[in-house]
Amino acid sequence: MLRERKKADALALLEGTVLEPGAIVTVRQQEPLGLGHAIWCARAFVGEDPFAILLPDDLVLSETPCLSQLAAVYRETGGNVVALQEVALEETSRYGIVRVGRDDGKLVEITGLVEKPAPEAAPSRLSIIGRYVLQAEVITHLSRFERGAGGEVQLTDAMAKMIGRMPFHGLRFEGRRFDCGDKAGFLEAQIAFALRRPDLADKVRAFLPRYLES
Ligand code: G1P
Repeated sequence: MLRERKKADALALLEGTVLEPGAIVTVRQQEPLGLGHAIWCARAFVGEDPFAILLPDDLVLSETPCLSQLAAVYRETGGNVVALQEVALEETSRYGIVRVGRDDGKLVEITGLVEKPAPEAAPSRLSIIGRYVLQAEVITHLSRFERGAGGEVQLTDAMAKMIGRMPFHGLRFEGRRFDCGDKAGFLEAQIAFALRRPDLADKVRAFLPRYLES
């Protein structure tokens, strides 16, 4: 439109900032101030729209991709939707843990969120795994740079500010989650995914036993 209207000055300002369809854009978080701060660093790309977050150290093996499962729920509920998985009580201090309202066994209404609580302080054993569909409002809360657990800017704390203002749900997703932030978890994910691939499964099955013999 600017070109049609011969607005050369305005066009020059845009030069170099226009994204080609399908472009992948990266931003760097220059200081390790926490997950919330990392998301805030991408604020220019989020704009006003609802958006998805995928933490790549959580890998999910499922029939329907975990994020598609969340998106399907989001289309029904709106608001915020996160992926949930039950963990052992002694593991609550490694995750964001939800306080549960209505619960139909699959979809959970979230009434509270606590980042990495000690087992005795955990409101449930349902942990958030790294798949989220969130409203852009979360960026406003992150912009305050309030420090939470571990002295970091926590995404969980910013999300908690939206509870009560809009629908907030968690989905016990279908599938298996691998913690690729853990070396053994990363290796297990390699094997599990390879065994699902028709071009690799037989070969992996053939060589694996060799490593199990002592
Ligand atoms: C982050 C989140 C936490 C979430 C976890 C999922 O923690 O802060 O709420 O449960 O990812 O993997 P991190 O793994 O970065 O310590």
